[in-house]
Amino acid sequence: MPSVRIARDDPRAIHSRGIVILKPAHPLIRKLKRDLPTPCIHGDKVWDSSWLLMDELRRNPPPVGATLMDLGCGWGPLSMFAAKRLKQQVIGVDADDGVFPYLHLHAELNGVSIETRQRRFEKLGGKELSSVSTLAGADICFWDELTPVLFNLIRRSLKSGVRRVLIADPGRDPFYQLAERCEKAFNSRVVERTTSTPKAAVADLLIVEA
Ligand SMILES: C[S@@+](CC[C@H](N)C(=O)[O-])C[C@H]1O[C@@H](n2cnc3c(N)ncnc32)[C@H](O)[C@@H]1O
Repeated sequence: MPSVRIARDDPRAIHSRGIVILKPAHPLIRKLKRDLPTPCIHGDKVWDSSWLLMDELRRNPPPVGATLMDLGCGWGPLSMFAAKRLKQQVIGVDADDGVFPYLHLHAELNGVSIETRQRRFEKLGGKELSSVSTLAGADICFWDELTPVLFNLIRRSLKSGVRRVLIADPGRDPFYQLAERCEKAFNSRVVERTTSTPKAAVADLLIVEA
């Protein structure tokens, strides 16, 4: 059970898809910001594409109890959803360990337990990917140099037995470059998704299947 309850009408929190996520203005987040160094690779808020990724996972859920690795997990919105609503064993991976206090705060509020690993995508090896069923990441392909890094990671993951890779993005060039490379090399497709909750958002999802 969560140790702190966030009221449903608290305007500094988002209740959506069965999880609760705090906005930057919430006092618990403000305290972390005051006390700790600021995350430095854009892991400084919850990004919108993660909601669309949750919807896709809800539509086509992985088997209960399987392992989902949340790539570039940031504050952990996707990790919360996967652990709480889909009963996944979740590993949150991020290069920036400054995001983990935010993720663990959300884990406490949502009453789930998430394993975290400070790791760069390029350092995720076959051994640690071999236990993973779903590899998923929201808003993680935002620089040109991330395109080959993520392409190689997807290739390694499929070789290691990962069943499905899902990457959501609001429509940046490096993401489309990645999607193009994946469409040539793997069983993959891109679908556009929209939502109106918790706010209006559009994202493309790259879906790669073994
Ligand atoms: C735009 S944020 C998205 C955070 C989260 N997925 C969300 O939807 O709220 C990108 C995240 O990817 C992480 N990241 C960026 N490059 C990375 C790399 N090469 N390896 C691992 N994590 C990386 C950042 O630290 C950051 O937390």
